[in-house]
Amino acid sequence: MRHTITVMPGDGIGRAVMKEALKVLDASGFEADYVHGDIGWEFWKTEGNALPGRTLELLEKHPVALFGAITSKPKPAADAELSPALKDKGCVYYSPIVTMRQHFGLDICKRPCRSFIGNPLNFVRRGPGGTIEEPAIDTMIFRQNTEGLYGGVEWTNPPDQVYDALMTHPKFRANFAWCPRPELAVSTRIFTRKYTSRIVREAFEYAKARSIDTVYVCEKPNVIRETSGMMLKVAQDMAKADYPGIRASDVNIDAMMMWLTKNPEDYRVIVSGNMFGDIVSDGFAGLTGGLGFACSANIGEKVAVFEPTHGSAPKYADYPESIVNPIAMILSTCMMLEHIGDHARAGRIMNAVKLVISEGRVKTYDMLKLRGCPEVLSQGAASTAGMGDAVVEALGRAGK
Ligand code: NAI
Ligand code: MG
Repeated sequence: MRHTITVMPGDGIGRAVMKEALKVLDASGFEADYVHGDIGWEFWKTEGNALPGRTLELLEKHPVALFGAITSKPKPAADAELSPALKDKGCVYYSPIVTMRQHFGLDICKRPCRSFIGNPLNFVRRGPGGTIEEPAIDTMIFRQNTEGLYGGVEWTNPPDQVYDALMTHPKFRANFAWCPRPELAVSTRIFTRKYTSRIVREAFEYAKARSIDTVYVCEKPNVIRETSGMMLKVAQDMAKADYPGIRASDVNIDAMMMWLTKNPEDYRVIVSGNMFGDIVSDGFAGLTGGLGFACSANIGEKVAVFEPTHGSAPKYADYPESIVNPIAMILSTCMMLEHIGDHARAGRIMNAVKLVISEGRVKTYDMLKLRGCPEVLSQGAASTAGMGDAVVEALGRAGK
């Protein structure tokens, strides 16, 4: 069956890594038509919208998408770079990623953090007697992607109704009533049972399919009693009702950041709200190769977008030859293939990536622990295209 995939390379290195990912997909024999979606800074500057309506329509029509990365800048820079014709037209910059997630309800975010054998960036620790241990990490993080602290319901100098509502809470009256309203900033953390249940269920289904006996709820219910408390309760009830043999275990986000530097291999499945999921997934990514290896899926009821978690790395964008690591983008295509049920091809590409890393002949600058600059290519680092070529070559040799 021939697929149609929406491809949104975006800005900066997003374009360079997307090119390699499509090259690998082609070499794997994946039959697809790719339709280009406009997204990113260029469209903010020229159209006053980083995610034009035509791209939303395209995603509506072709709901499986690959996304590279975009550039976003703080408000003063955004306003300054807007085309003169659009100035004073009331254009407001919104992050196209957050907009896309909310518009299509891409509420399920999956971020796998796996160590690859032979990756020089793998986490190591000192064992007994000064031995060096390199545990195999294989963690899947389920992050609620549309609610919580990134839900965007926030105010500086809140309007009357909001302020009055806050004043009905005894804690607000006791601790914040002293503050002049213009000096008050409020960001809400809203959880709904529906979307909390959806992300928690994804985590349990993943655990069940792999006979994993614990789902860690990484929140802070002892302090954030209502929202974190809701997620923990949903998980405990779900475990009891639907997943005999799987435990919902409570681990606080702050403690988790300590434990992951000690025994990350013990955590196979983690579920969190939006912000804590963002934090814990970056933490685990750092143990498994960093941004050059961190892939992700954003899945809604209809649309699904697959992307590396890194940004557009503007400082590397204009090199004569791109030096960044395309593996995170390539692994994102594996997640896309899994999503559309092409497990065999996803496995073949994954095995090719594993082979390239374990053989260790081709390494991008990050894997060589070099500081990024154009000269890394003459110091033995592979270019972005060089790494893409190596994965293509390995596809021919790697097993199923
Ligand atoms: P970034 O992820 O673009 O880069 C941070 C650093 O990580 C880079 O300087 C580089 O050293 C390293 N890095 C990133 N990707 C790499 C790769 N594939 N291979 C090797 N090294 C890699 O984050 P930064 O610098 O904070 O943001 C740059 C721009 O990207 C900003 O405009 C930001 O708003 C945007 N951004 C976009 C995201 C997205 O599109 N999903 C996510 C994060 C940031
Ligand atoms: Mg992040």
